[in-house]
Amino acid sequence: MPLEKLKTVIAGRLSLLEKSGALKGAEPVIARIKPASGKKGPRFILRGDKKEYIKMNSNSYLGLSLDRDVIKAEEETAAKFGAGPGSVRFINGTFKPHAELEKKLSLFHGREAAILFSSAYAAVCGTVSSLISDETAVLSDALNHNSIINAVKLSKPKEKKIYEHLNMNSMEIQIKGLKGRCRRVVIVSDGVFSMRGDYPDLKRMVSVAKEHNGGFEEGIITVIDDSHGIGAYGKTGRGTCEVTGEYGIDAVLSTLGKSLGVNGGYAVSDAKIIEYLRESAPFYIYSNPITPAEAGAAIKSLAILNSGRGRKMLSSLKETADYFREGLVETGYEIIKGIHPVVPLMLRETGKTIKLVAYLKEKGILATGLKYPVVPRGDECIRFQVNFSHTRHDIDYVLNVLAEYKKSSV
Ligand SMILES: Cc1ncc(COP(=O)(O)O)c(C=O)c1O
Repeated sequence: MPLEKLKTVIAGRLSLLEKSGALKGAEPVIARIKPASGKKGPRFILRGDKKEYIKMNSNSYLGLSLDRDVIKAEEETAAKFGAGPGSVRFINGTFKPHAELEKKLSLFHGREAAILFSSAYAAVCGTVSSLISDETAVLSDALNHNSIINAVKLSKPKEKKIYEHLNMNSMEIQIKGLKGRCRRVVIVSDGVFSMRGDYPDLKRMVSVAKEHNGGFEEGIITVIDDSHGIGAYGKTGRGTCEVTGEYGIDAVLSTLGKSLGVNGGYAVSDAKIIEYLRESAPFYIYSNPITPAEAGAAIKSLAILNSGRGRKMLSSLKETADYFREGLVETGYEIIKGIHPVVPLMLRETGKTIKLVAYLKEKGILATGLKYPVVPRGDECIRFQVNFSHTRHDIDYVLNVLAEYKKSSV
């Protein structure tokens, strides 16, 4: 039994994770969704549990994953093109909806071209690793998403520098120190940081990159992963570029699986860069694309986002998130202030986080506790995610439960 030795080692690792409180454990299984009705938003029923839950941990910020028009588009496209692509893109796995979605994404972002990946994780790994050569220095925010960390590991850059979270001065100092040591610099950051709802000063990032561009033979390239920004904030849902008023980022990466409610990832940039990604990114070349039906659904989601209806949804989402934030502060909770529908309630201890998540579940609320190593030690929190589909009644209920908990734990 050759696996026996390995299983002993693995059991030790799992037990360490459990002792530190970092074990994620068995995932709850959603067995059924009850559509919104009256004052109540959608309710989620878990396998082996009769309770109906309000979901406060969904990335489907606009509720589009449950939108009838999006679901209909997915069904109709599946009926036309089948359930799956059958092969990777270059071996005849490119369907009309893939090409159409890429065109629409490039127009939405006002960029020359777009490329789809099977997920945002693949988009980040595929794009970032293709833009980094062995003569490149990478500058990465200290709290960047795991996909960026692994993309950089995969790329083996000449130098890797981590700058303090959001600190553009610290980033600039590191750029100055790199002159003469590499040909190219790639600055890579999350757009909005999903654990905190904060975001970099993109205007300053781009101006620093422009100022020092001449100091490197192949220039300085800026890349953001705005998976939680696109479709979640900004008056028209163009995310962190819109919120900061800076559209000069060289490559913007995002997901189709959060605000757009479907699945998959993409990058937008200049046509030459996208052409190069199609030729060089292994995550694109050797892996199936999203299904044609997913592309059809994403086209519909994007059309909704890019319409008057989408703008109203965004404005209502912002109002609800602001209301929730204010309610938490009034009750005496510490939060990270912001304008994004991610609202982190800071508990700063693993034990306290686990206890409150369990209490919320008992009261019919699904929320996710973030613990080390997902967040730095001391930043343990519950990340609430407000969605367009939450009604005022739902949010008041969650606020009341949290107020009761606060009273009972003083
Ligand atoms: C910032 C960020 N980038 C990328 C991803 C990966 O997205 P996808 O599920 O499309 O791979 C996530 C997912 O949680 C994320 O938070």
